[in-house]
Formats: sequence, structure tokens, C-alpha cells
Amino acid sequence: MARVPHDPITGLIHHPYQPPANWDAVPPGVYKASTVIFPDVASLRARSWKSREGYTYGLHGTPTTFTLEERLATLEGGNHCVLAPSGLGAIMMVNVALLKQGDEVLLPDNVYGPSKDMARTLLADWGITHQLYDPMDAADLARRIGPATRLVWLEAPGSVTMEFPDLRGLIQAASDKGVPTALDNTWGAGLALPAFELGVDISMHALTKYPSGGADVLMGSVVTRDLDLHHRILMAHGRLGIGVAANDVETLLRSLPTIALRYHAHDASARQLAHFMGRQTVVKQVLHPALPGSPGHAHWAATCTAAAGLFSVMLDPALSTAQVDAFVDGLRLFKLGYSWGGPTSLVVPYDLPSMRADVSRLPGHLVRFSIGLEAVDALQADLAQALARLG
Ligand SMILES: Cc1ncc(COP(=O)(O)O)c(C=O)c1O
Repeated sequence: MARVPHDPITGLIHHPYQPPANWDAVPPGVYKASTVIFPDVASLRARSWKSREGYTYGLHGTPTTFTLEERLATLEGGNHCVLAPSGLGAIMMVNVALLKQGDEVLLPDNVYGPSKDMARTLLADWGITHQLYDPMDAADLARRIGPATRLVWLEAPGSVTMEFPDLRGLIQAASDKGVPTALDNTWGAGLALPAFELGVDISMHALTKYPSGGADVLMGSVVTRDLDLHHRILMAHGRLGIGVAANDVETLLRSLPTIALRYHAHDASARQLAHFMGRQTVVKQVLHPALPGSPGHAHWAATCTAAAGLFSVMLDPALSTAQVDAFVDGLRLFKLGYSWGGPTSLVVPYDLPSMRADVSRLPGHLVRFSIGLEAVDALQADLAQALARLG
């Protein structure tokens, strides 16, 4: 029999959900509770939050959170999912689940900044050390893995420098030494790359971005295939006491069925605008993994079937910081602010030397664009008028 290709989107929409008797509707119900009532003492004693068989207390799951977790596992091709109140909270949950005093964690040098900050502060305070590896050199990762290494974080691409790593090589280097890998899969969103087929053990996702799509909800998730790993993450979740609000989950359940349409629209506009920026003399390099010449483009081409709506540009090093700031301030449709995946296009100038040890490969001023869902020609005209200010 022919193998049916992985189709998370139809699976998301036609997803098992048991509505209450005589209530047949497309959206799942929203259930809110702290207290869950037990019918008798025997059931109270028999049910434990640790097994997640049955409901015990709102913090440990409701029909609403369980439904979103099941759909996210479907989206990412995993078996289990645990929600967290933000993407950064999900990163913390993985760190707490897998690391203890004396352990070491390895992070890519271009990792999401607050994740690096967490390693330098909280994790260091708890006696957990870290090393930064060059994401563009799998041999560098292999060299750094030592007897205390318990976790390797991956990010593809780095969400500011947009360098796309040799994911297969990095995963191989970690698995050769028996160290689990956790991928920050926010950019791939379960749509651009098959994380578990590539061999990652944990897929962490900032649902704040594409799954929400509305720039209005903060949430994160951790998806696994392995039951034992899932159990460790579940224990960290329960013990940290980090629940998510049912109304936020409802918003996610509302947005999720349209994620593929939105993702591919962001992708198409971002590619057009990245090409446009590449034709400007003041732009020395465009950092978009789907564009030939961008760092790691060949790895992107070998691994991905799509790209998200993010790209960065390296502006001429001869420009002053004041000129770069004037270009960014001159944009009208692009708003100045953090995050991505929402309807509104965003822009942020980054201080690259504070984020990446070796900036010699990326000379100039880095400006990152998150492409929203506005008409792409209007966005291009906005870029053109702001570029004109640079003379
Ligand atoms: C790559 C990446 N990972 C994780 C996060 C954290 O997500 P949240 O903002 O939900 O904490 C972000 C947020 O910008 C991000 O860009």
C-alpha cells in the first residue's frame, strides 16, 4: 500500500475530539477549572497528576489543554506535548527537566538571546555550566561534548543571524555521544522541516509566533516522541507550577487550523522582500536561508520545504549607527518591536557583536525584519521610501 505522506494540517482539522452528548460543533469546548471534583475518596487516592490518566487539578491539565497538546503533537509529528506559559518558559522547562548541579548544556552561539542569558545566570547559579558552540561547524560541537554534557540545544536557523546549520551533522554529533538534543523549532513551526525524522529528541516551540498568529498570546510547547523524556518534562512542568490560561488555549485552538496558510503567506512575502533588499547597493548581504549565498543555504535546501517570514540584512559598514537608526525610524508600516509571526510587519536593529562571538563573517549593521500579512507591494514601497533616506 502506498505510504500516505505526513499531513499535519488535515490531521489538525479532522482531529479526534469527543463533544458532550448531543452537542456536535466544529470548535472544541473551553473548560476552566482549578478544582476538579472527585466522586469519592477512593478515586481521589487512585488518581495522580503524575500519570495524567484522568483529571486531578486544573494546573495539571483540562480537556482544553489536553486538546491543544494533542494537536501540537500532531502538527510536529511527535507523540506527547506539554504546554508552558511562554516560549522561554518552555525552554526553562526543558532545562529543569534534563539538567542538575554539575551538568553541562551546550548552546549554539547564535541561540535566542534570553536562552543564553538563562544559561549565564539562573543555570550558572544552580551549578549547571554551559558552553557555546559554533552552529555552522558540527565538528566544533563534537569537540565540546564532554562527560558532563547532558543536553544540546539546536536552533535552525538562528532567529537573528538566520544562519542555517547542518542539523543532521549536529544531531549526529550529539547522538554519537548519547546526548539528547532539543530543537527550538519556532521557525520551522512543524511545517518547514521534519524535526523528529531528522532525529531530534525534543521539539520546543514558541506558540507565541505562528501558532498564535495574532501577536496576542504568549505560550510555548515541548513535544517529544519518547515516553520517558515526556515524563521528565511533565514532572518539571507539574513541579514548577506553570499552567496556561484556558482563554489563551482557546485562542490557539482557533488559530491553529489556519497556520499553514498564514505560514506560507509570510514565507512568500519574505522571499520577495529579501530579494528586493538584495538588489539595494546599501545592503551588503541578505540573511534568508532560502536565498542562495545566505549562510547555510545548502543545509536549508537539503532539510526544508518552506521558510518562515523572517530575514535580516547586513547594511554597509560605512553607514553610521545614526543613519541605520534613521532608516529604521523612517519605516511606516514596519513597526519597531520584538517577536514575529503576527499580522504586523516588525523591524529591529541588532547589536551583532553582543550576540555572536565571531562576527567577521557578518560585517556591517544587522537589521531584522519579521514580515507580516500586509500587501507585499505596500511593504516593498515602505522599504523603498526608507532606503531613499540613506541617500
Ligand atoms: C527563536 C525563539 N525562541 C523562543 C522565543 C521565546 O518565546 P516567547 O516570546 O513566547 O517567550 C522567541 C521569542 O522571540 C524566539 O524568537
